[in-house]
Amino acid sequence: MDHTAEASYAAGLASSHASNGTQRSCKICVNGFQVDAVEGEHLIEAINRSGIKVPQVCYHTRLGPIQTCDTCMVEVDGKLVRACATQVTGDISVVTETRAASAAQREAYGRILANHVLYCTVCDNNNGNCTVHNTAAMLKVEHQTFPYRPKPYEKDMSNPFYRYDPDQCILCGRCVEACQNVQVNETLSIRWEDEHPRVLWDGGETIAGSSCVSCGHCITVCPCNALMEKSMLGHAGYFTRLPNDTLWGMIDVVKAIEPEVGYGPILQLSETEAAMREARVKRTKTVCTYCAVGCSFDVWTKDRHILKVEPSEGAANNISTCVKGKFGWDFVNSPDRLTKPLIRERNGEGDSFREASWEEALGLVGRRLNEIKAQHGPDAIGYISSSKCTNEESYLMQKLARAVGGTHNIDNCSRYCQSPATTGLFRTVGYGGDSGSISDIAQSKLILIIGSNTAEAHPVLATRVKRAQKLHGQKLIVADLREHEMARRADIFFRPNPGTDMVWLCALSRYALDNGLAHAEFLNQWVNGLDEYRKSLEPFTMEFASQVCGIPMETLTRVAQEFCAAEAACILFAMGVTQHCGGSDTSTAISNLLLVTGNYMRPGTGAYPLRGHNNVQGASDFGSMPGYFPGYEKVTDEEAFARYEQGWAVKLSRTKGLDNHEMVEAIHEGKLKAMYICGEDMYSADSNANFVGDAFSKLDFFVVQDCFFSLTCRFADVVLPAAPSLEKEGTFTSTERRIQRLYQVLEPLGESRPDWQIIQDVANRLGANWNYSNPSEIMHESASLAPLFAGVTYDRLEGYKTLQWPVAVDGTDQPLLYTEKFNFPDGKARLYPLQWIEPCDRVDGEFDVHLNNGRLLEHFHEGNLTYRVPGIHAETPHPFLEISPAIADKLDLVTGQWVDVTSKFGEVRTQVVVTDRVHDKQVYMPLNHPKYPVNLLTGNFADRTTHTPAYKETPVKLKTLPWKGPDPLPPLNFRHGHPTPQRGVEVERKWSRSNYRMPGNGLVQIQTGQQKG
Ligand code: SF4
Ligand code: SF4
Ligand code: SF4
Ligand code: FES
Repeated sequence: MDHTAEASYAAGLASSHASNGTQRSCKICVNGFQVDAVEGEHLIEAINRSGIKVPQVCYHTRLGPIQTCDTCMVEVDGKLVRACATQVTGDISVVTETRAASAAQREAYGRILANHVLYCTVCDNNNGNCTVHNTAAMLKVEHQTFPYRPKPYEKDMSNPFYRYDPDQCILCGRCVEACQNVQVNETLSIRWEDEHPRVLWDGGETIAGSSCVSCGHCITVCPCNALMEKSMLGHAGYFTRLPNDTLWGMIDVVKAIEPEVGYGPILQLSETEAAMREARVKRTKTVCTYCAVGCSFDVWTKDRHILKVEPSEGAANNISTCVKGKFGWDFVNSPDRLTKPLIRERNGEGDSFREASWEEALGLVGRRLNEIKAQHGPDAIGYISSSKCTNEESYLMQKLARAVGGTHNIDNCSRYCQSPATTGLFRTVGYGGDSGSISDIAQSKLILIIGSNTAEAHPVLATRVKRAQKLHGQKLIVADLREHEMARRADIFFRPNPGTDMVWLCALSRYALDNGLAHAEFLNQWVNGLDEYRKSLEPFTMEFASQVCGIPMETLTRVAQEFCAAEAACILFAMGVTQHCGGSDTSTAISNLLLVTGNYMRPGTGAYPLRGHNNVQGASDFGSMPGYFPGYEKVTDEEAFARYEQGWAVKLSRTKGLDNHEMVEAIHEGKLKAMYICGEDMYSADSNANFVGDAFSKLDFFVVQDCFFSLTCRFADVVLPAAPSLEKEGTFTSTERRIQRLYQVLEPLGESRPDWQIIQDVANRLGANWNYSNPSEIMHESASLAPLFAGVTYDRLEGYKTLQWPVAVDGTDQPLLYTEKFNFPDGKARLYPLQWIEPCDRVDGEFDVHLNNGRLLEHFHEGNLTYRVPGIHAETPHPFLEISPAIADKLDLVTGQWVDVTSKFGEVRTQVVVTDRVHDKQVYMPLNHPKYPVNLLTGNFADRTTHTPAYKETPVKLKTLPWKGPDPLPPLNFRHGHPTPQRGVEVERKWSRSNYRMPGNGLVQIQTGQQKG
């Protein structure tokens, strides 16, 4: 359903379409032809659809009209106007090629060339898609009409990933618009009043040291080579790797011959060179391997060199990426990659690993697992699937456990984060997934974010909220322990006491019901269980919530009133909610509140548990959980059980399976003897790493499959080298239940193999006879068995096409759930009564500091991938602990000082960063530590319903150490920057320059195009 991407933008675009919702089709006359159009749309869009060519250098469909280039001049009803900024009305008559319009277009383009040298043949951007080049060709530009004026500034090479060349910058401002109003990082501006304007970072910083987060939006939209990925430079073209002197010699030749031969032959030569590049530059669509926003893009490669990542058509992201998706891929070529199987060698002085052939390694895996199964029974083996692997691989992993291994001991790391959210939604509305799409979040009137550092953990999704708030008046309320970026931007920000969110959420529901602010009609028609639920709310007065949560009454009341008054509200939540002993209950309270206020079943409403890993949604969707077959059918459901027995032609076990938390316990109890972990660094990711490591040491046999030798691999008997997402095919499912295909970009490195092939090899060694030759066959089998995916086929997912489950046999999907009914037999939602239970572990006299933890923008989770990206490493090389100025004062600590952090379960030594992002006696440790994960500190408490560890309930104590180093965040880290928010390009300031003149020869009246709001 690619239209959802459009909807997302339609919802977001600033004043693009004047009257959303009331647009009407019409016919306009262009160059004497009738052209289909929509009232209120930009004229340039209608012209483009008709196939008539009009130059348009600064216009980009994803940015809307920014009106800086003036190349799109056309005549409308006898007046010269900018086609990009003119809105269609039903009766207009347009001429694109009158003498006046053509002269204006050429004059405008001539002014662009005063800022840009057309040295295309030796330019790495000469790939057939350079707007400046293509416009020169379209206008058949032969000569320089205004002399080229270099700008008196140096190239800025300071960012690890991209560079800015002022001398090639045409000042179109696309980058500024993207940074200010799409990414909304608000780093870029152009000071139009300067004698020589250029693009500025934080008003005049170098890129490194500015607030730039290296998201890449600006580079993606730049219409020329002024902003370019460093990975392209010297690599894309046939002549671009020439030494600088030779290169500039050639450029000078071009400039010298242009007056005589004209640009025509010069451009033709460069077009021939561009065409030759197609033979060696491969462009392959993939889906991001990091977070679950589900960004997709083309990866440009030359052999194994990644030239660049180019987003454009992705349903979730279109032109957007964050630093990880845009630049975080060097790990695929890391010398640390596992390229051969490893087998543990036991020798007297300590174990070591030796390389082995696949034959030997698989033989050993098969033999030992068969022996252990024979000796201790099928339930003595545990299987862990990966949320980094594909849906097909998750499906195979659970099939391996169930159909071949004979056990339901299968789980994945959604247990560590998302299971409570899924439970909350199962209890209340029936599906365990986001209730709508990112486009719903963008068009909502109010967003409530709870326990989610969205701007860093789900960066592209956060841009949609930031944009909606900045340009469309969306209200933003944030509840969190930390004052992260979204909290700083919020209209209301408050800090509930750790682990108490459930209380204020219930109080809001009660407040709504008590004060006539609930949605009575909705409750009446669509919701069961109101009476019992209402009774359960009795203890949850606002006073009680204020006292338990530590939120001032005034704030709480304001939040309640704003939330109830919102025409459409969404709640976004993440691990700050789920990783508590009451994670499932808090998730349920969120959904209850949405039901009470009628915030389901409509666009712009719903619950959005923001999934963490790229395929954490899919890993569970496709059955890697002990209690569920693919598509969330319970293994206790007789009909589903029989269907899978028949489909797989096996007898399935009736014994309840263990989740990953229970597996670790079972190893300690001597019940679980072997494990096969596919793509999961469980030692780092599970809570209480020491306890988990001790368990792994007790296993009789341990197989770990990964791309790198993770901390978990240290405990393995056999390590199998797997291929990352760029080296295989398959599908991922993003947080918005969106299934997307990834295509193979590179061959697997060395002898590494795609996980699905390895799982098949292991299955066959255990007695199966699987013969999948392509992941599409696995998806076909899964779709034939799981009704949730009945209509999912690779054809329907071809290229950038996507499907959001549930998918009916005919391929109909559901971008917004519950439009007709809730997912219960009677179609009605259920209010679920709750009881307040205090957090399991709280600060006390000894462990007096509350440890919070989570992701950073730059590093993903423990950093197994991102620490192997040199640019990311340069920006954020060291782990650290954020402490508040209050703790710094008390312990006499300054940024850079070392401390020991000790909990009841372990100890970590780290440097501190003093910041008011955290307050009082709360500290924050990012998850990325390559050696000493934060989970050495977290304990064994877990959510009462799902066993998700209570990572966020960890009291610690701090001890100051006598060493101090530099700030662990180096000067080039974006956190040191100072953004310069403004409305956008602010083109009126350009028009006010004394030397600005709207192009046109004065033969017709000029009409200033409508300006952006
Ligand atoms: S944050 Fe940096 S990379 Fe992203 S759009 Fe702004 S300037 Fe460009
Ligand atoms: S750097 Fe920015 S202003 Fe300059 S050409 Fe590129 S997008 Fe336009
Ligand atoms: S990490 Fe997430 S937000 Fe960033 S590009 Fe990948 S999917 Fe998009
Ligand atoms: S396309 Fe640049 S002003 Fe219209």
